Amino acid sequence: MPEKTHTPKFKLAIIGGGLAGVTLGNALIRHEHIEFHIYESALEFSERGAAVGLAINAQRALHRILPQADVTLERTGGVPMNSTRIMVGTGQSIGHLVFDLAGTDPGIVIHRASLLRELLAPLPKEVLHANKKLASINERENIDARGSIEVNFTDGTTTYFDAVVGADGIFSTVRDYVLREFEDKKGEYRASPAGFWDCRHLVSLEKAKAALGEQYFELDRQYGWVNDGAFIMHDVLENGTIVQCVICAVEKDPPKDRKRPLSREFFEETLGRSLESAHTRGMVDLILDQPSPHCYSEWEHKATPTYANGRVCIIGDAAHATTPWQGSGAGLAIEDAMVLGTLLGAATSPAEISAAMKAYSDLQRPRCQSVIDSSRGTGDILCGRHHEAGLDPDKLKEALLPRWDHIYGIDFEKHESEALKKFECIKQERQ
Ligand SMILES: Cc1cc2nc3c(=O)[nH]c(=O)nc-3n(C[C@H](O)[C@H](O)[C@H](O)COP(=O)(O)OP(=O)(O)OC[C@H]3O[C@@H](n4cnc5c(N)ncnc54)[C@H](O)[C@@H]3O)c2cc1C
Ligand SMILES: *[C@@H]1O[C@H](CO)[C@@H](O)[C@H](O)[C@H]1NC(C)=O
Ligand SMILES: *[C@@H]1O[C@H](CO)[C@@H](O)[C@H](O)[C@H]1NC(C)=O
Ligand SMILES: *[C@@H]1O[C@H](CO)[C@@H](O)[C@H](O)[C@H]1NC(C)=O
Repeated sequence: MPEKTHTPKFKLAIIGGGLAGVTLGNALIRHEHIEFHIYESALEFSERGAAVGLAINAQRALHRILPQADVTLERTGGVPMNSTRIMVGTGQSIGHLVFDLAGTDPGIVIHRASLLRELLAPLPKEVLHANKKLASINERENIDARGSIEVNFTDGTTTYFDAVVGADGIFSTVRDYVLREFEDKKGEYRASPAGFWDCRHLVSLEKAKAALGEQYFELDRQYGWVNDGAFIMHDVLENGTIVQCVICAVEKDPPKDRKRPLSREFFEETLGRSLESAHTRGMVDLILDQPSPHCYSEWEHKATPTYANGRVCIIGDAAHATTPWQGSGAGLAIEDAMVLGTLLGAATSPAEISAAMKAYSDLQRPRCQSVIDSSRGTGDILCGRHHEAGLDPDKLKEALLPRWDHIYGIDFEKHESEALKKFECIKQERQ
């Protein structure tokens, strides 16, 4: 096909090899005119942390990126959560059902390391660069010139690119570069504590059954208990062999470094009357049964004026870190990769990249910010702190059920054609 060979190649750097960066790599593979490289500061591409739930929107976006997504997901050992059951864990309605979301469109719970491994598998080894930490970005004067972006790494090397995508996580260096014109509002746009902490531990199915009760493991079900200022949950992953245990709670005095050591005394102070249930005590035992247990403050981006600046943009947690209450951070990162991949694929020359990136930012920014805000509010409800619902099962149900509609009820076909429409408009305005 002569057209293809005539399309000038452009060269793109992806900074950060987490779920966002690696998923974007998968989205770009099919676009032959884009040469991309992924730079990861860690010694190897790896995921720390426990499980990640891919809700239906995340799965749909992944299918649009990877035609063989079913096979990929199967290889991860991800377990479909056939139902999510929310219960009241404390107070006079203790043990009452809030709701059971069963059947349709289950989320899939996956070990983070397994998901990253399977998303790395399709990428050529030559594009993956570990132990490469971004130091600085510098756009040269003629911004339309090829290779106009100078990317410096901490090992003293420099490489030139036509475009840079920051997928470098919540404390992103690329984010600072994209927002450099907003120096006076720097504090407001930096990640900050959202008012909750959480802690996790992965244990064997046998251990979980013994500590929590056999009855909770008859189905592959996600369980959550609303308590007085805290939320407790578990789900199953790795083909049903491993259980993720989670305790989260309201946080009043966030530690500066986000990290706090856990002890039985700390749980007694913070969980208070929630410890009246044997199930909660079992969960505390499971969480404490690990070397050096810690909890982490949940941080988020409360505002972000843009995700793109010229030929540099940010995706994933670098753009919109959110609390985990709606299980949507990774899902949004996959959506970003889908939308940006399509737009960069439609850009036929380096000169069009900034319009593609602006269209991505204009489309995804309102959606992602609305998830950050609704996720924080969902945390209040799940911690029993909703002003009306409190620990009342019927009111909790009413408050909670509609909260996922705006996240799941999106039509990606429309969403992506809107992205392309925005791209055309921006290009026209600039002519
Ligand atoms: C407790 C918790 C539970 C969660 N549960 C869910 C869930 O159930 N479902 C869901 O959808 N989401 C969930 N999320 C959110 C999800 O984990 C994140 O949104 C997602 O992992 C973000 O991926 P990322 O690639 O943007 O960032 P990261 O995973 O942070 O990756 C950034 C990468 O960039 C690298 N890097 C950083 N700086 C540089 C540099 N200067 N140069 C080169 N590389 C650099 C880092 O080493 C890292 O590998 C949860 C989050 C938390 C905190
Ligand atoms: C889960 O089971 C599938 C299908 O049997 C297998 O291919 C995969 O390797 C398993 N994965 C894990 C992480 O156990
Ligand atoms: C980046 O590296 C180049 C080439 O070594 C150097 O000239 C430039 O000053 C560096 N930029 C920064 C901001 O350090
Ligand atoms: C969950 O749902 C899937 C697909 O509908 C089904 O194959 C599986 O048996 C169900 N698992 C359980 C434990 O109910």
